[in-house]
Amino acid sequence: MAFKAASVDDYRALARARLPHFLFEYIDGGSYAEQTLRRNVEDLRAIALRQRVLRDVSKIDLSTDLFGERWALPVGLGPVGLAGMYARRGEVQAARAAAAAGVPFALSTASACSLGEVAAAGEAPWFQLYFVKDRDFVARLIERAKEAGCRTLVLTADLATPGSRYRDARAAGGGLRRVGQLLARPSWLWDVGLHGRPHSLGNLEEIVGSHAPLSDFQTWVHANFDASVTWKDVAWVRAQWDGPLVIKGILDLDDALEALESGADGLVVSNHGGRQLDGALSTARALPRIADAVAGRMALLVDGGVRSGLDVLRMLALGADFVLLGRAWAYALAGAGGRGVAHVLQLIDAEMRVAMALTGCCKIEDIGGCILDPSGDQATF
Ligand SMILES: Cc1cc2nc3c(=O)[nH]c(=O)nc-3n(C[C@H](O)[C@H](O)[C@H](O)COP(=O)(O)O)c2cc1C
Repeated sequence: MAFKAASVDDYRALARARLPHFLFEYIDGGSYAEQTLRRNVEDLRAIALRQRVLRDVSKIDLSTDLFGERWALPVGLGPVGLAGMYARRGEVQAARAAAAAGVPFALSTASACSLGEVAAAGEAPWFQLYFVKDRDFVARLIERAKEAGCRTLVLTADLATPGSRYRDARAAGGGLRRVGQLLARPSWLWDVGLHGRPHSLGNLEEIVGSHAPLSDFQTWVHANFDASVTWKDVAWVRAQWDGPLVIKGILDLDDALEALESGADGLVVSNHGGRQLDGALSTARALPRIADAVAGRMALLVDGGVRSGLDVLRMLALGADFVLLGRAWAYALAGAGGRGVAHVLQLIDAEMRVAMALTGCCKIEDIGGCILDPSGDQATF
C-alpha cells in the first residue's frame, strides 16, 4: 500500500493507483456531465449538523433493526457490478467483511462471483435483481437466490436503458491500449488478472457465456436489459418472493407511492450513483419528501454520495432508516481488498459515534431532523 488510508477519499486514491485505468473510470465515473454524481456528494456535505453539548452521550448504540434482523450499523454494502474485477474474488471478500462487521451485503446480478460462490463462503447475501429480456431466466435467478438462502431481494428499477458514461468511452479501446493499461498495474495483474479467475459474470454465465463482456459491458446491457418492465412485472416478482422485497432506484414521490402500493417492503432512494439520468435530483434532496410520504409504512433506504459516517448521519436525519454504500466500499476493495472494506466499515462506525455524541444522540432512533441546523442547505431541499 503506498500510504495508510484514513478515509474513503484515501481509498479512492489507492484504487486509482492500483486499478487499470479503464476499471477505475468504470467505478468512479457518472453519466454525461456528471452533474448528479457531483450533486449527490456536494448536497449531502452541505447539510449542516447541529452541535449539542453536555447531554450524557457515554453509551452510544449504533445497532438497528431492518427486515426482522438486528444489524450492527444502519449501513449495508449496496450492489456494485463487476466487483470481482477490483480484487481477487472481490464479492466474496466484501461479503466476508460485511458479515464480520454485522452488516448486509447486496450481491449484484452483474457480479463476477456467483450467488452460490458468495453464499458458500459465509452468510447468504441480499440479491440484487436486474430484469433481462429472457423472463424464464429471471425466474430461475429468483429461484437461485432462494436456494442460496438469500433473505432479501433488491429489484433495481432505474436501469431500463443504460446511461452513457463518457469516461468509460474515453478509457475504452482494445489491443495495445488495453494491454498498456494492464501492464501499468502489475500488482492488479498478479492478484486479479492471473489469480482472480474466472473472469465471468457468475450469475449470468448461462446467457453471457464464460467470459465477462468487460470490454463492452454497456453494449451488452443495452442489448439484453428489458426496457419494457412496469409495475406489473414488480407484481410478478412479488408473487414469487415471500421475503423482503426492496425496489431500488426511486427518486420521485409518485414512484415511491407506487412502490408502496406494489406491496414491496422497502425502497431505496437512489439515482444509481449518478450513473443514469444526469440532471436528476441528488438523493439527499429527493429523500425528505419521500420520507414524509412513506415513513413507517415501508423501510426507507437511500444511497448516493455517502463517503463517511457523517454522511450516514445526515441521511438518517433526512428520514432514511438505512443507508447503502456504493463507491465507498468499491474503492476500498480495489485499494486494499477485503481488509479495506472492513476498514471502511470501522471508519464509518467511528465517525458515526463522534457525530452522534456531538449531536446529542445515543441511539439510532434519536437521529432525526432535530440534529440538523436550520441554516444548512437542507432548508432549501
Ligand atoms: C461501479 C458501480 C457499479 C454499480 N453496479 C450496480 C449494480 O450492478 N446494480 C445496482 O443496482 N446498482 C449498481 N450500482 C449503483 C449502486 O448500487 C449505488 O446506487 C450507487 O453506487 C450509490 O452511489 P455512490 O457510489 O455515490 O455511493 C453501481 C454503482 C457503481 C459505482
